[in-house]
Amino acid sequence: MDRSNKPSAIGVGASMPQPTISLRDNTVEAALPTGESVTVHLYGATVTSWKLADGKEQLFLSQTAHLDGSKPIRGGIPVVFPVFGPPPPSHATSSLPQHGFARNSIWEFLGKSSESIGKDRKDGVKLDFGLSHPMLSEEFQKAWPYEFGLVYSVTLTKDSLETSLQVQNKGSQNFDFQVLMHTYLNIEDISQIRVKNLESTTYVDKTQNASEHTESSPALEINKETDRVYKSLDPKVPIVVASASDNKPVFSVARQGLNDVVVWNPWIEKAKGMADFGPDEAYKNMICVEAGSVVGWQSLDAGEFWEGSQTIRPRL
Ligand code: BG6
Repeated sequence: MDRSNKPSAIGVGASMPQPTISLRDNTVEAALPTGESVTVHLYGATVTSWKLADGKEQLFLSQTAHLDGSKPIRGGIPVVFPVFGPPPPSHATSSLPQHGFARNSIWEFLGKSSESIGKDRKDGVKLDFGLSHPMLSEEFQKAWPYEFGLVYSVTLTKDSLETSLQVQNKGSQNFDFQVLMHTYLNIEDISQIRVKNLESTTYVDKTQNASEHTESSPALEINKETDRVYKSLDPKVPIVVASASDNKPVFSVARQGLNDVVVWNPWIEKAKGMADFGPDEAYKNMICVEAGSVVGWQSLDAGEFWEGSQTIRPRL
């Protein structure tokens, strides 16, 4: 029997607060109803800001970074592709600039998806960005004549930021590439953090003529210029930036398909020498923990896909 005062069905989700997204001045901003936010510039698909609900910024961005597309953005998460560092001579990438072209090309915003997303199916928002060969400048098209497609997904949840890159070979010849997410983490004081979970791994020290060493420290202290490429790490073990005083994690960086990790801090002289790094003392407020595949080359046959991602979790 029908009741006259039967409550009407509640539209599931209809009144649930949704993430907000805006695209203006070549910049996409997304915010969760709980207050977390992320900003991505189409130039380089560079994430330049990631704030927690309390407004606290998690990424370092140089005060003198160029945000007008005239230079790769100094800070946030520049995407390095298809070569890491200075390209080797006599290689398919040798006419490209340091760190390739992805961080200095204009990407397309492909759209967003929300609700139960990311590897751990959390409520959040996922922003997709695309770059392909015809979108490159003429100069880059000539320097790297491969038909590729990149889809870069930036997923914000309440307690994590995931960045994921899918590479597709859309052409008929295979190509080799390296890839790296050059994350500048925002920290209060470099002397008060340690980088953990690197002990006993092998690294190339770029400050010492690329000589190879084994990491002896269970908790790496950064007290000088540091530019190390840690090789072939266990992907199941996140890199942890921990507080020196109480050992608590400040950030953890988990990776899938990105088994090399670069730890970089320019320190005093190099920081002063970079016109787009400012203020000079800001080297104290950043540590780059860069998840990548940069020691060898990934080879992609015609029609094949490759995917790698990182998930950064801050101390909450
Ligand atoms: C790091 C490299 O990934 O990036 C360093 O290991 C380099 O050698 C640093 O100095 C910054 O590079 P760039 O091109 O942004 O000045």
